[in-house]
Amino acid sequence: MNVLVIGGGGREHAVCHTLKKSKKTDKLCCIPGNAGIAKIAATKQLSVFDFDGIYEYVKEQNIDLVFVTPDDPLAKGMVDYFTERGIKAFGPTASAARLESSKAFAKRFMNKYGIPTAQSIIFSSPDEIRDYVETAKFPLVLKADGLALGKGVLICETKDDALRGIDELMVSKAFGDAGNTVLVEEFLRGREVTVMAFCDGEHIKLMPSSQDHKRAFDGDKGLNTGGMGAFAPSPYFTTDLEAEFLEKIALPTVRGLKSEGIVYKGVIYFGLMITADGLKVIEYNSRLGDPETEAVLPLLETDFVDIIEACLDGRLDKLDIKWRDKTGFCVVVASGGYPEHVVKGYEISIGDLEGVTLFHAGTAVKDGKLVTSGGRVFELTGVADDIESARKLVYGQIDKIKFKDCRYRSDIGRV
Ligand code: AMP
Ligand code: GLY
Repeated sequence: MNVLVIGGGGREHAVCHTLKKSKKTDKLCCIPGNAGIAKIAATKQLSVFDFDGIYEYVKEQNIDLVFVTPDDPLAKGMVDYFTERGIKAFGPTASAARLESSKAFAKRFMNKYGIPTAQSIIFSSPDEIRDYVETAKFPLVLKADGLALGKGVLICETKDDALRGIDELMVSKAFGDAGNTVLVEEFLRGREVTVMAFCDGEHIKLMPSSQDHKRAFDGDKGLNTGGMGAFAPSPYFTTDLEAEFLEKIALPTVRGLKSEGIVYKGVIYFGLMITADGLKVIEYNSRLGDPETEAVLPLLETDFVDIIEACLDGRLDKLDIKWRDKTGFCVVVASGGYPEHVVKGYEISIGDLEGVTLFHAGTAVKDGKLVTSGGRVFELTGVADDIESARKLVYGQIDKIKFKDCRYRSDIGRV
């Protein structure tokens, strides 16, 4: 089977790496890819929004399956586009991807189907929301309804923070139309854990749980980033919590989607908070998480293409998906100013890495040299018996990666 992966980050490198190992993959292609992906797949520099251009490439390369990884092309209907043209595409349709692309849709959905989540009120006028925050309890959370590069969530400690946030989201429209509708949400306290799952429209199969570290600096200091490292499974997601999750969250989600007439085929990402009142959904994503995927996929034993085909054919219940009973662990090596002021184009040198896998995120080749081309540059990943040995393994190798101002968090997995 000839497979095309859409996207070009560390998550997509992990997806390509896993697909490459499949007995069923003949040819592997990626748009746009990065310098690491280019070593294992044919890459092509096209925008992920150029559906017609990608379709030309699909015909040229005899692609049988398109794996759509990032949120934006999913929300814009790439899976619908290829399916209508008779090409198999893995991922939710635009309608199904609203679980992520509209936080108001997701919230109404959870409330309708009794899925535990933070209480919230949905506003589409700045005046109404300003009136509301006058008497609200703090902290509270403001969330832009639409996709906002992961930055549309503002945690407000005071009324002034909230008023500034309302201006940013709804008046100066920092995230464009994503802020036309804004949710005001109760602030949840607890520990965050991620569970990703495969779904075939009818059945759901969980991947190992995981945790990511979103803040830029050690000790959870600094700005929120796309994620600075991750590990799987999470020691906090116990078998009791898993049972609660299945009964109260995962199965009602699948049943709810079906009742709405939505056939969800792809990955559902559940961002969860373990609160004193039980598990609650913070957010759904309609795709694999980044960097969680780089920690989770190295644990997969079953052929990845078999899982994708079972999802597309609606027979996930018949497939026994096997995972290694180990810990997957990854640390992001980032550009100096990430996430605010990223300087790109620095030359990279990599020593002999032993016992680890290096996923490229923001890398490119310029004048024959490997250079940085993004905020998150690499995810260095290792698999070991437990978190502590995985930490030792990855941190023991990480300084072999060198470029100007490179940095990483040194406390990934210290939970
Ligand atoms: P989201 O984009 O919805 O995942 O939000 C980004 C991050 O903001 C989450 O990973 C949480 O750390 C935090 N967050 C979002 N909603 C809440 C909430 N209701 N209470 C506490 N923290 C939240
Ligand atoms: N790691 C969070 C996300 O992928 O949205």
